[in-house]
Amino acid sequence: MTADERPQTIATQMHAAARQVLAGGVSSDARRLPGTPLYVDRAAGSRLWDVDGNSYLDYVLGQGPAILGHCPPEVVDAIRTQAGRGIVYSAQHEAEVTVAQRLCAMVPVAQRVRFNTVGSEAVHAALRLARGYTGRPKVLKFEGHYHGWFDPVLYSVHPAVDAAGPAERPQPVPGTGGQQLSSAADLVLAPWNDLDALRTLLELHGEQIAAVVMEPILCNTGAIVPDPGYLAGVRELCDRHGCLLIFDEVITGFRVAPGGAQELLDVTPDLAVFGKAMAGGMPVSALTGRAEVMDFITDGTVAHAGTFNSHPVAMAAAAATLRILDEQRDEIYPRLHRLGAALMDGIRAAAAKAGVPMLVDGPGPMFQTYLTTNDRVRDYRGFAATDRAGMARLHGLLLNQGVNMVPRGLWFLSAAHTDDDVQRTVDAVARALEQW
Ligand SMILES: Cc1ncc(COP(=O)(O)O)c(C=O)c1O
Repeated sequence: MTADERPQTIATQMHAAARQVLAGGVSSDARRLPGTPLYVDRAAGSRLWDVDGNSYLDYVLGQGPAILGHCPPEVVDAIRTQAGRGIVYSAQHEAEVTVAQRLCAMVPVAQRVRFNTVGSEAVHAALRLARGYTGRPKVLKFEGHYHGWFDPVLYSVHPAVDAAGPAERPQPVPGTGGQQLSSAADLVLAPWNDLDALRTLLELHGEQIAAVVMEPILCNTGAIVPDPGYLAGVRELCDRHGCLLIFDEVITGFRVAPGGAQELLDVTPDLAVFGKAMAGGMPVSALTGRAEVMDFITDGTVAHAGTFNSHPVAMAAAAATLRILDEQRDEIYPRLHRLGAALMDGIRAAAAKAGVPMLVDGPGPMFQTYLTTNDRVRDYRGFAATDRAGMARLHGLLLNQGVNMVPRGLWFLSAAHTDDDVQRTVDAVARALEQW
């Protein structure tokens, strides 16, 4: 063991045991990593500790949800209190009304709400509602965008470029074995951030397309704010062709602004889906939208259900999280943007000093480090041309220096991160890059 490797004895033993009983040793493919994955013992604020006693400044935050940091006391109290009054009712209760009211006040498009447990389900509900409302069969999605792991949308998230067709006219590439491939017939795939390509596709297929769905800031393929005018152009094209515009704000929601990317970028969709940050770490998702569209659920035309929907403990966590984010919006959001910008600047300077070609880009509350000599990544093809294997290697070097980023190079900030954390992280990145 060198000075720059962490002890992982207990984690290695646990992983050997896990591999005997958990398929692949993990519970989600996103946690499948080369070597021993992180076995977390506990988390608080901006930090994680693993089972071997190593500590990490955490920029994964549960893949985004821990927007207030780990274990924010108000959220923990709310969870404890609710758990003592009942864990699950599958009946109406006050907190779901409070949370829905808060969503309607915070999110521009939200006039009505339905809750689910995870993002994939809420996306599923949004697409069904769009088909029910428009009477059209197809959905247009973009290459590089992730909308959960269900069959109809698990196409061309990170496809092999040589199997994905021309950049301006990509072909849907299935994401998994066992996928119901008939779903591809109802999918139109487009390159993102390219208005001309979308215009052409909508002229060809517009009358059949129920919805155009996208991450309004692309976070599963880099952290890409669309070109100025792009979202407004998409909005206009959707209106012209009678397609609904769905923003998948599972990552951007309550992270880039109190009202999500739709508030930050000032373009309002017809429906929007939230998850991750809205309950500070508890599993909750929401479908929100214009009343006229949501009324197709109201009147029973479109079915929506779920045993755990508006789960009382999760709703208590959401009520506490959203209250804090709403009431302290003038402090929290400028801080997330400021700390994100400072960390991006520090990493850029460390990379320049180490002579490592690195692009650091994104809105701030989340951002992406790319290993590339290019000065901008605008879409999936640009992302695919970066050194992704190198970024996975840098992830390992950073863990050894006590910094946990999402292995593909994505970083999430929380309200619990401090200026001191940022400085320590920049120093750790500099040490990791020295070993590059
Ligand atoms: C943009 C986006 N949509 C949907 C999902 C699916 O959410 P979940 O993993 O909660 O099902 C994710 C998950 O990372 C996501 O990033």
